[in-house]
Amino acid sequence: MTTFRDRLAKSSILHKSRLVLALDLNLKEGLLESALDLIEQLGYEVAAVKVNYHLLLPLALKDIACIIDAAHQKGLQTIADLKLNDISSTNLAVLEILHRAGFDAFIVNPIVGYRDALQPTIEEAHKKGMGVIFLTYMSHKGASEGYGLKLRLRSSSVKPLYRLFAESALKWGADGLIVGATRPSIIRQVAALTNNSLPIFSPGVGAQGGSALDALKAGANFLIVGRSIIDSPKRLEEAKKLRERSWSMF
Ligand code: XMP
Repeated sequence: MTTFRDRLAKSSILHKSRLVLALDLNLKEGLLESALDLIEQLGYEVAAVKVNYHLLLPLALKDIACIIDAAHQKGLQTIADLKLNDISSTNLAVLEILHRAGFDAFIVNPIVGYRDALQPTIEEAHKKGMGVIFLTYMSHKGASEGYGLKLRLRSSSVKPLYRLFAESALKWGADGLIVGATRPSIIRQVAALTNNSLPIFSPGVGAQGGSALDALKAGANFLIVGRSIIDSPKRLEEAKKLRERSWSMF
């Protein structure tokens, strides 16, 4: 069985792209058709698509499966962005549904811990060939209030929460990390802490003020982009520009 990371590397090379398109369409008529149009229009510019609550809540599972299938037909990987954050019995039920829909990977919040939470989740995901991506430092302004919290350890040294998450990602067998493009210095630290051994996905480019080039230079491997492309009157041009930028760094 192939791994998410291998498949992502393949789709990235196929499309010469390190872009993940966030299919963040707002609630309206024809949501399914609009999502399929986006994949048809922009599929060659990206390595993966990310699906979150914008689609997961209003659409039926069969519609989600249809979107995933369209992405796969274009050679793309698919990531479910639920920021999964629960005990293992619930996580495993969600994982089963995501797997049935055809998803390749999903994002989790490592704050829930390993035992009875992420350990069974990661093991089951890997059995099914799915990837698990750890939220490590989010992209929005208020992220510092949580991910930036400093922990005083028993040794009385101090460690920020995001460093603990990055270390846990390595120890627990995660397949990638999310660090906001808005924080290149943290991307740099996380890349160093993990010896560049896990792909870093960076959301927050454009609409949230992050710079694609700064994030990539700091060590981001993939840019997650939604509104800068979706809200643009020239979606294809915008996606092409970001794709070329994402590829020029490697
Ligand atoms: P924009 O429109 O800002 O969309 O390009 C970004 C997409 O990424 C999601 N997002 C995040 N997801 N960790 C995540 O897992 C984050 O730190 C983060 N910041 C933004 C957001 O929901 C949207 O789909």
